[in-house]
Amino acid sequence: MNGAVELPGDKSISHRYAMLAALAEGTSELRRFSAAADCRSTLDCMSALGAEVKLGKDTVRMTGHGSRGLKSSWRALDAGNSGTTMRLLAGILAGQTFSSKLTGDDSLQKRPMKRVISPLREMGADIRGRDDNFAPLEIRGAKLKAIDYIMPMASAQVKSAVLLAGLFADGITSVTEPARTRDHTELALEEFGAHVEKNGQSIRVRGLGGGDGSGRLTAKSLDVPGDLSSAVFFLAAASLFPDSNVLIHNVGLNPTRTAILDVFAEMGASIQMLGLKSSQGELIGDLAVKGASLRGGVIAGARIPLVIDELPMLAALGPFTEEGIEIRDAAELRVKESDRISAVAENLRRMGARVGERPDGLKVEGRHAGRLRGAEIEPRGDHRIAMAFAVAGLAAEGDTVIRDADCAGVSFPTFFAELNRLAER
Ligand code: S3P
Repeated sequence: MNGAVELPGDKSISHRYAMLAALAEGTSELRRFSAAADCRSTLDCMSALGAEVKLGKDTVRMTGHGSRGLKSSWRALDAGNSGTTMRLLAGILAGQTFSSKLTGDDSLQKRPMKRVISPLREMGADIRGRDDNFAPLEIRGAKLKAIDYIMPMASAQVKSAVLLAGLFADGITSVTEPARTRDHTELALEEFGAHVEKNGQSIRVRGLGGGDGSGRLTAKSLDVPGDLSSAVFFLAAASLFPDSNVLIHNVGLNPTRTAILDVFAEMGASIQMLGLKSSQGELIGDLAVKGASLRGGVIAGARIPLVIDELPMLAALGPFTEEGIEIRDAAELRVKESDRISAVAENLRRMGARVGERPDGLKVEGRHAGRLRGAEIEPRGDHRIAMAFAVAGLAAEGDTVIRDADCAGVSFPTFFAELNRLAER
């Protein structure tokens, strides 16, 4: 693997900038906005709610009409495959003066929504879902009250849904998380002019309805950093081949996302951070990666929420490591875009790996269990499974076929082109 690569804009940050730009007054310019299908779902929803969206090559211009400027959509809002779109938007819609219907694809309709329905109801929201847990969601906008929410689980999406609803509540809403999760919502809220305070594991946001002029979001010009969760596929691929030399430019290196780099470092990977700088509240820099011999290890505990999206790639690296890879405390993986524990285990076994599956994780045997063989991979419509196994396939003996590989476009439409470009044969 050799060469330089610039990644698409961060998916998590793109969603948040798009939602807040739609609630701000005026035109925001969001540069290097993610080309992910998931973020397109967010743009389409915000457009259906009355924001004007203009798509450039990789810049989005979004004109919002203020925090009370959204309008009801005559059709159901479609979040597609995107849990972030559905859960964060539920928080915004709960505080509007109109009703909305939020739906998504088959996978999203199977993912749990009770985790946002419960706190939003505590705030006075009127939300109905199938079996009180699944989309489609019917949300009747209501007057919300501020709450102090102690989150029962570590989830950035739940935290964000409550904070965004807090913009429409009177007074100060607070959320306390049991373990740290990505803080892009807090940073983006500050960028757009909301009043946010952090104190340990608690975050407080002031409602916009104060009437003292402080209650307004302002349009911004922002650069979206490259997506570290997409960079991870190249970090993994480059690590697997001894003579690799890959430089990844402008990657988001927010400390709530970089636990994956610590995991790589502990496994013996050769990754250097270069040119670190701060950009509109977020840290960015370049990553230089070389081939290395990976040790493997155990990933568990409070670290799990910080590397949750990277676990499929880490698990698929297991058979190439000295000690193998064990993942524990990660039952959440079963309710992502697919059941990622089962999808990784099944596809690794297809390639000849030895894998033990547990309710909350898996154990993948290392190199001693034999070299992986190319196989036919079934990603179950899950972008991260397709990309993780493309990387495993590169280092396996023989050809690997990934069915339905286009699903990578959910987060990274040009993934295969970029992987092909960097792979020397
Ligand atoms: C995300 C939060 C995480 C992550 C998801 C994106 C976000 O989900 O897995 O891909 O943008 O807030 P949870 O909040 O469910 O852990």
